[in-house]
Amino acid sequence: MPIESTDSVPADLPGHGRTVCVTGAGGFIASWLVKRLLQKGYTVRGTVRNPVDPKNDHLRAFDGAADRLVLLRADLMEPESLAAAFVGCEGIFHAASPVTDDPEKMIKPAIRGTNYVLTAAADLGIKRVVFTSTIGTVYMNPYRDAEKPVDDTCWSDLEYCKKTENWYCYAKTVAEQDAFASARQRGIELIVVNPVLVLGPLLQPTVNASAEHVLKYLTGSAKTYVNAAQAYVHVKDVAEAHVRVYEAPAARGRYICAEGTTLHRGELCRVLAKLFPEYPVPTRCKDEVNPPVKGYKFTNQRLKDLGMEFVPVLQSIYETVKSLQEKGMLPVLPEHHHDEDDVVVQDNDIALLVRS
Ligand SMILES: NC(=O)c1ccc[n+]([C@@H]2O[C@H](COP(=O)([O-])OP(=O)(O)OC[C@H]3O[C@@H](n4cnc5c(N)ncnc54)[C@H](OP(=O)(O)O)[C@@H]3O)[C@@H](O)[C@H]2O)c1
Repeated sequence: MPIESTDSVPADLPGHGRTVCVTGAGGFIASWLVKRLLQKGYTVRGTVRNPVDPKNDHLRAFDGAADRLVLLRADLMEPESLAAAFVGCEGIFHAASPVTDDPEKMIKPAIRGTNYVLTAAADLGIKRVVFTSTIGTVYMNPYRDAEKPVDDTCWSDLEYCKKTENWYCYAKTVAEQDAFASARQRGIELIVVNPVLVLGPLLQPTVNASAEHVLKYLTGSAKTYVNAAQAYVHVKDVAEAHVRVYEAPAARGRYICAEGTTLHRGELCRVLAKLFPEYPVPTRCKDEVNPPVKGYKFTNQRLKDLGMEFVPVLQSIYETVKSLQEKGMLPVLPEHHHDEDDVVVQDNDIALLVRS
């Protein structure tokens, strides 16, 4: 039952009288996006695969949801379900995607599903689409200059993704390139957000893939860490980036969404061990032969130009663990005693005061 009334929304809010759709609304990033859009006064049509599944109940508890959120059943492999969800919308946020390296589960929904989204939007005359892509469509290229920061002009190498069986990056890269081609053909204003690994509190009741990235180092399931490095971003910043690019009339193309720091997995583990010494965090690298891998360099300037500031990475890590504990996804163990009220974390050149 779509509810289009925005009577209760102050006229000075940007979303007043405006209806948008968010695909995969119950997911980690999309839940924060729906929450932010409701805060800004938008009416939101959220697609989920099963509206009566209790795992989507958190969405209905958001402020404004009772009046301005409707959940509709849609599957990326069923174009007519997407078209039905988009009716009456002025813009689409396409966040739904499998997040896996299993080619059977990943390739078709990511590539065809994104194509169906663009086609349905164009058929309905919807002008603006924001697509949640990933940094994995940008940097996965062995031929690029490792010293040069990757930016919105860089593309992952499809043959390399295939050769390394990185089907997530492969599918997202093809999906994004196809989306730009469709957008050009059909006159859609396409804006792509390319987040790095997303951390921060979970609103949804299930553990998503990027929360698992931290969780596995606390439960004892990972005995060592891999020789890899990664940039991170807070989920609230990712949601905010989506809204900012949507609301900036001149925004087009790709926006790398990342806090400025890159951490080697060993640094991530050392931060976790310092903040939460009660957990069995790995202390050894799986690869004891090669030197530590350096992370890709990148620029987040395009989002900074839209006024974005990013939550520091250590804050994101801290909030992720606290959230996993609060949601019962990580057992709370007796805390180690800290000498002072505050825990100072210092690792190489990163330092942050986190209140304990
Ligand atoms: N988290 C990260 O670190 C990160 C980083 C960069 C980019 N991203 C991108 O951000 C987006 C959201 O990721 P997330 O981390 O929030 O993952 P998530 O929590 O797993 O959410 C993914 C959502 O996609 C939906 N979905 C999957 N397959 C679908 C299908 N065939 N039809 C309809 N819906 C489908 C899921 O719906 P169900 O609930 O029905 O399964 C789920 O709500 C993805 O596009 C991902 O590629 C994520």
